[in-house]
Amino acid sequence: MSQPTRVGIIGLGQRGLQHLSALWKLQSEGVVKIAALIDAFEDNLNEAKIQEYVDGFQIDGIHTATDFGATLAEQSLDAIYFALPPGVHKGEIIQAANAGVHIFAEKPMSLYLNEAIDMGRAIKENGVISTVGFQQRYDARYEAVQEFLADKQPVMSTSIVNGSLEGHSTKHTKTETLGGPANRVWTANYEWSGATVVEGGIHQTDLMRYWFGDIAWVEASYVHRDAADVVDGGDNPYAYSVRYGFACGCIANLILSRLRRTYYSDGYESVLWTHGHLKFEGNDVVAYYYDGPYPPAETPSVESVRHTLPTGPRVDPTEQISRSFLKAIETGDSGQLRSTFASSMNSLAAVLGANVSDQLNGERVYLSDLLTDAKYDRYRQKPSNR
Ligand SMILES: NC(=O)c1ccc[n+]([C@@H]2O[C@H](COP(=O)([O-])OP(=O)(O)OC[C@H]3O[C@@H](n4cnc5c(N)ncnc54)[C@H](O)[C@@H]3O)[C@@H](O)[C@H]2O)c1
Repeated sequence: MSQPTRVGIIGLGQRGLQHLSALWKLQSEGVVKIAALIDAFEDNLNEAKIQEYVDGFQIDGIHTATDFGATLAEQSLDAIYFALPPGVHKGEIIQAANAGVHIFAEKPMSLYLNEAIDMGRAIKENGVISTVGFQQRYDARYEAVQEFLADKQPVMSTSIVNGSLEGHSTKHTKTETLGGPANRVWTANYEWSGATVVEGGIHQTDLMRYWFGDIAWVEASYVHRDAADVVDGGDNPYAYSVRYGFACGCIANLILSRLRRTYYSDGYESVLWTHGHLKFEGNDVVAYYYDGPYPPAETPSVESVRHTLPTGPRVDPTEQISRSFLKAIETGDSGQLRSTFASSMNSLAAVLGANVSDQLNGERVYLSDLLTDAKYDRYRQKPSNR
């Protein structure tokens, strides 16, 4: 039997701990060996702290470190999970790829397109396996939508998420020591999160891509927060209206908000294809369409056009994406991965493109231009102070 894949995780915060939980389970199955845990802050590597998030966790034999480069050089890791805030990368993914280590990168892979392009280049040139944390592609309900739409022509999708600013969780990065928000809620801060479309909306964006294929252009307008209404660095816009145009001809609306003092959130998700309407109702995925002889003698009842889609068994998508990543490493075959680094670049360009469009007063931004055209040079750069 082959040796279990030796993995490391960098960033033992909210997401890194979720990955560790899944990997802890997979380790008990002999699929993986957790070999190294790395975090800039020593107390995030404390066994007792980790045990609060990972049932039964023991640090026995696991290398812990604050120094990424030394760990990479000494620990002969096969794969590393990168769960860092997206603006703090300092070449770690590129170093790992150059060392032949397979890459699990959390979304968004970077806040800066040039940096993400460089990461993708290193992954490609070194031929390492990669995936990006779009685990929703492994969720049975979203898989059902993908299969159902495969032979249909989607025309419009709408995804609305109204969240509250206080609904963000407190993170584990000690942002107060790094010039960031004093309350560690970096997801509410534009400079740290890239705003809500980039930090959260990238999940809805990537799901749309899972169903409809690549995005060709984006137009976006935001309502920015009043400077007088910023508390604890939570300066992200109040409201976001984003429109995507897909290569297949479909259009999509992504509507997000993050208000303070509301303590209320809700959402709505719908997909229209040429002859029907698909919605999420509770835990059900429901498609409304008429499939009898046309035209019908009488207007069909709502019940007769309502079809609940069969969905597979519910799985933990975070565990499932890891299984898929580890399988790809074991077999050397990336074919079953639903989000490689390269394929995920379109999702990243779409959300960063939304910010660019907003800055250009809602101008349509074609993603192929955004990635290469000199006109967008300054929007691709990582600022020198980051
Ligand atoms: N796929 C998902 O569903 C999902 C869910 C949550 C977060 N995320 C993503 O995961 C990433 C991490 O987010 P989080 O919620 O875990 O944040 P977090 O702040 O809770 O955790 C980040 C961890 O990284 C450590 N860290 C920060 N800078 C570092 C550096 N330079 N070197 C080493 N360690 C460093 C911090 O100490 C902290 O423990 C983000 O990109 C976020 O968008 C994805």
